[in-house]
Amino acid sequence: MEWWTKVTDLLGCKYPIIQGAFGGFGRAVLAAPVSEAGGFGIITATALNTPEKLRKDIRKARSMTDRPFGVNLSLIGHPHINELREVAIEERVAAIFTSAYKAQDHGKRIKEAGIPWIHKVGTLKHAQAAESHGADAVVMVGIEGEGEKAALHLSTLTSISMATKMLGIPVIAAGGIGDGRTFLAALAMGAEGVYIGTAFMATKECPIAERHKQALVKASPSDPDLRNKIFAPPPPGLEELTRKQEVWQLVGDAKPHSVSRPMPVMGGSMAVGTITGIVTVKELIDRIIGEAEELLTGDSPLGRILATE
Ligand SMILES: Cc1cc2nc3c(=O)[nH]c(=O)nc-3n(C[C@H](O)[C@H](O)[C@H](O)COP(=O)(O)O)c2cc1C
Repeated sequence: MEWWTKVTDLLGCKYPIIQGAFGGFGRAVLAAPVSEAGGFGIITATALNTPEKLRKDIRKARSMTDRPFGVNLSLIGHPHINELREVAIEERVAAIFTSAYKAQDHGKRIKEAGIPWIHKVGTLKHAQAAESHGADAVVMVGIEGEGEKAALHLSTLTSISMATKMLGIPVIAAGGIGDGRTFLAALAMGAEGVYIGTAFMATKECPIAERHKQALVKASPSDPDLRNKIFAPPPPGLEELTRKQEVWQLVGDAKPHSVSRPMPVMGGSMAVGTITGIVTVKELIDRIIGEAEELLTGDSPLGRILATE
């Protein structure tokens, strides 16, 4: 099957599968294999911390794959965020993703430079705002996903189905996705692609400790600690701090990778339910696509319905 969508068109990748941003470890060693396997890898600028290191990592990714990849700018008050953005522009990455608040000025600059700008949001209100500010697409993260939660956060099912009806730009679904079923469900809701965090952490290439990967394999979405963390409303004052982009100043200088809320270094979402073992990035992507194709052609509800055509 050809997995062409508006998002593969925009990003130049084979499959509409994007690897999410990771504050502590989202570097070329993970992003390049994702792109090489037909997905779209993202280097997280704040994981490199300085413009020089970001430039070096982008070049490293380029030495590892000829395929396109992008950069994420997590707008949490990082002292060098503008310089990080300029490095991504100068290096002509295939797309720049922003997340958190006050993205419009960055978006304007990215678009003026002729690079696609994709903003990540958690609520329908923010999705509409991103569209009105000229974003080429939005990543919409449902409450099942890892990351900052807004008071108005909805489930992936509800928010993606509504966003794809409300918006004119492509919606990329995130939150709890990690296998062929969740991937296909996102496309059925009208998403033009998926954005996966947790499931890419349980891959051989992900540069986190083996014990964290094993913990993800063992974890269940029913674990009370995990559920309580993922479905918790934002702590009082966090939204306001994030809006003012002061989160980084609070913890960044002392320990640049220790922003534990809203972007924990070690985490995991409801997507742990899709993880069955530690595989290579290529095996994960191939498995998602293979399972989706099986669902469309084999002995499944969709397969049977489509077979009657
Ligand atoms: C350990 C970890 C660190 C993350 N760090 C960031 C970050 O720095 N910036 C960001 O925009 N998103 C960050 N995220 C969120 C992911 O990019 C993505 O939106 C989320 O994981 C999607 O939900 P999923 O985990 O259910 O796939 C992080 C996620 C995890 C699991």
